[in-house]
Amino acid sequence: MMEAARRVMSSEYMLWARTGSQARFNLASSGLENYELAELPVKIEELELSRPSFYSYEPLQKALAAKCGVQPRCVVAATGTSMANHLAMAALIEPGDEVLIEHPTYELLISVAQYLGAKVKRFARKFEEGFRLDADEVARCVSERTRLIVLTNLHNPTSAFTSDETLLRLREIARETGARLLVDEVYLDALFENQPRSAFHLGEEFVTTSSLTKVYGLGGLRCGWVLADPELAERLWRLNDLFGVNPAHAAERLSLMALANLNKIAARARALLERNKLILNSFYSTRDDLDYIPQKFGTVSFPRLKHGGVDKLCALLAEKYETSVVPGRFFEMPEHFRIGTGCDTETMREGLERLGSALDEVRR
Ligand SMILES: Cc1ncc(COP(=O)(O)O)c(C=O)c1O
Repeated sequence: MMEAARRVMSSEYMLWARTGSQARFNLASSGLENYELAELPVKIEELELSRPSFYSYEPLQKALAAKCGVQPRCVVAATGTSMANHLAMAALIEPGDEVLIEHPTYELLISVAQYLGAKVKRFARKFEEGFRLDADEVARCVSERTRLIVLTNLHNPTSAFTSDETLLRLREIARETGARLLVDEVYLDALFENQPRSAFHLGEEFVTTSSLTKVYGLGGLRCGWVLADPELAERLWRLNDLFGVNPAHAAERLSLMALANLNKIAARARALLERNKLILNSFYSTRDDLDYIPQKFGTVSFPRLKHGGVDKLCALLAEKYETSVVPGRFFEMPEHFRIGTGCDTETMREGLERLGSALDEVRR
């Protein structure tokens, strides 16, 4: 990505996601099909428009802390993982600092770091290695000027998982240079009962971010958070006074209800992802024009088109087949594209059918 003057910075990816990704068969989203308000046992008398939420709304703070298994003072509520990432980076980066970010990654992590004046360097996650995070590669790329190392777990765009063992190796690397580690865990809950605790538990070098938006289909609540040590958490709350100050209180109340019903919401998500994963893997097994990693878990997959252009494929898909996937150029890997598996199962089935027809047509 080109570095632009701060006042004219923007995200090409977000522009496309908001204005170009919609389609009748949308396989471009990384989140779950929306969870409907009618499914939540909401009583109107439990809602309220305004109540004190000064540096946290206490019941929500406690519920998030209980979910994450941390002290409430380590949680900083934020408007989605988006603002959680921005807040965390704003508190950890000074202009000119070197920030080491995985490649490929979620584009906003790069553009926010650049917006804050960081010198962004990258470490590679390789397709040939299943996009696993290779701590040796991080060790090669880190320098004594590195202030922050940034990764996603599960990985966006590939759903690759990074184990505690690897994260502990990263902690050693970060310690040597006095860097912190920012782990965006927005997709980690897609491991459901197999998910490890947040990397926050692995040491004070770790700052983690997440939200209820993606895995639970609760995007509209914008319920996100940062986990940080109490001293940093305090700074983040104060820094947030420069950004959004307070969240919408009605959304805080609804988030609390969602957290109280999270097992049920998770069960629906798990069943949906399980079904769609089987459909995706059986689609892959019929294609010799794609290189792919069979989907094990997560909400996204990142195949590589063996021949021909992905942009041409995406244009044909959109125009003739009313279907969208995310072109790999938004993840700096233009020969790949990203398929989301969180849509309803009929959309998954029909969208892949159409993708197959478009692939056949591109090949001809
Ligand atoms: C890795 C990653 N982090 C954060 C976000 C934004 O999440 P939220 O909707 O919670 O702001 C996304 C959205 O796609 C993402 O992929």
